[in-house]
Amino acid sequence: MQISRRLAAGLLAAIALATTAAPGASAELRPLPDCRYDDDLTKYRAYADWRRTLLDPIYMVPRSYAPTDLLSTADAGLNGGYLVRSVVRDRLRAMGTAARNAGAPLAVQSAYRSYATQESAFAAEVRRVGYARAVKQSARPGHSEHQLGTTIDFRSYGNTTPAWNYTDWGTTKAGTWLKANAWRYGFVMSYPKGKTTVTCYIYEPWHYRYVGPWRAKEIRDRGLTLREYLWYWDGNGY
Ligand code: DAL
Ligand code: ZN
Repeated sequence: MQISRRLAAGLLAAIALATTAAPGASAELRPLPDCRYDDDLTKYRAYADWRRTLLDPIYMVPRSYAPTDLLSTADAGLNGGYLVRSVVRDRLRAMGTAARNAGAPLAVQSAYRSYATQESAFAAEVRRVGYARAVKQSARPGHSEHQLGTTIDFRSYGNTTPAWNYTDWGTTKAGTWLKANAWRYGFVMSYPKGKTTVTCYIYEPWHYRYVGPWRAKEIRDRGLTLREYLWYWDGNGY
């Protein structure tokens, strides 16, 4: 009885620390790594770990990472021609419907990208803008959240201009609506404005990763970027 009470008290204290302490407040929290360019295999890389798989310029999934439950974005009520994991479908559909009803209709510009596709995309970007700039706006193969099958680049429906060709797509109807509401459907803008030193990528108001509504709300409530959240709160930093 005595032991189990002590154990319970310990557990409660641990939960309190995990839910209230600011990152960095505890000696046990390791600092967020710099934006260095390594090829370390990320810790949580099973397909079932999609919510907490940390991908950044350091951490990657292997070339063989290719989820088997991919389906067309048309199955989520959006334009087809792109693939997402089945775990994303229902909330993506709900988000697309809500955006349409709000007068901010969305379309998909890019979704799942294999290692090989990202390899060519990154190489093309290096040819276009040079390596130093390319690594700030395109992930090297294995490092892209698009390989998870849970990440989508959106554009405005009815306008085929890719979001990255706008001065700031985040200020359009669709971009503004997503920024305010995506979290309700479990989506997070991975690379927000003014956070390049933390996320390692330039502002991408079109790039949203699905982490599920619970985590999306947590990230929003804590005011963290996804990279910080995954590092501090989802076990990647331990
Ligand atoms: N544009 C983002 C960083 C990617 O390539 O995944
Ligand atoms: Zn993207």
